[in-house]
Amino acid sequence: MRILVTGGAGFIGSHLVRRLLRNGHFVVNLDALKYSGNLANLEDVKSHPHYVFAHGDICDQNLVASLLKEHAQDGVINCAAETHVDRSILDPGAFAKTDVVGTGVLLEEARKAGVSRFLQVSTDEVYGSVESGHSTEDDRLAPRSPYSASKAGGDVLALSYWTTYQFPVVVTRGSNTYGPNQYPEKFIPLFITNAIDDQLLPLYGDGRQRRDWLAVEDHCAGIEHVFLHGQPGEVYNIGGGNERANIDVAEQLLAYLGKPKSLIRLVQDRPGHDRRYAVDCAKLKRLGWRPAVSFERGLKETVEWYRTHESWWRPIKSGEFRAYYEAQYGKRLSGSRGVMG
Ligand code: DAU
Repeated sequence: MRILVTGGAGFIGSHLVRRLLRNGHFVVNLDALKYSGNLANLEDVKSHPHYVFAHGDICDQNLVASLLKEHAQDGVINCAAETHVDRSILDPGAFAKTDVVGTGVLLEEARKAGVSRFLQVSTDEVYGSVESGHSTEDDRLAPRSPYSASKAGGDVLALSYWTTYQFPVVVTRGSNTYGPNQYPEKFIPLFITNAIDDQLLPLYGDGRQRRDWLAVEDHCAGIEHVFLHGQPGEVYNIGGGNERANIDVAEQLLAYLGKPKSLIRLVQDRPGHDRRYAVDCAKLKRLGWRPAVSFERGLKETVEWYRTHESWWRPIKSGEFRAYYEAQYGKRLSGSRGVMG
């Protein structure tokens, strides 16, 4: 198939682009190359005969329309998004723009171009904090941060295109994803790279929040599977089945790196911090997908990747990231305490 992937220079997007090329598809990658989009993520496929890169924003209606026309796309997979909860607390407007308005532009241009399949990459955060049990696709949406609220907006906008126009949309709601090439503002790559440099690890609140960790290759396999086999108008949860407390993940990665637990600092909590996410993936399993990577193996390989790819993350951490880190953690770390009290 000829597929327009948006946000293909980002973390999940770049792994997805590589996977689709490997599986024989033709891929056009539209990416605005904002702070976390990085063409170095696709260095190995940049000359692939079935790959085209287009620099631009999903909010740019003319660009989206001309790409769809020029490359006669069979399908669109929307990975382009502002994705970091902490940044959404600092600058919510950017999230509404890309995650809601941008998704709207893509949907409308794809519908007008007669695209035969549209997959919206959403998130399990749209269900809000889940104290017990597991979210199923029919559960009420209860997003609680500007990030998850914006994603919920894009998610339900996509579904409305099926109800209203019978435009064949599918939605995936993935859980916390980790692996190589993840921008080091997120929990796992931030903690690994800080620990490599013997820097403190800022653990929010009591560190007992729980997330379900999903290896990026399993997430991309799920997206591809839903894109090819999902029922139009349907939503599919994708989760790794690896629910862990943050503090346990922090201690595990320190053990892999041979670094002391004393690096962990309990810092002021994220405002509105969701305590737990957990998704029920039975629907996608019935469609034939299963996660293949155990958390222990995946985390070990991820630690190893960051250990051996300093040339990838050091330039990132020394650029725009420094100002962000200072704003986000400077005060928090000065008032922090160790996990032993
Ligand atoms: O659940 C899927 C979502 O997972 C995705 O839709 C989001 O794009 C992705 O960012 C992620 O959201 P989280 O807020 O769960 O991920 P984050 O890596 O920011 O944080 C994971 C957990 O670790 C969360 O409970 C907050 C905590 N944390 C995070 C950071 C960055 C800390 O304790 N300290 C930190 O410095």
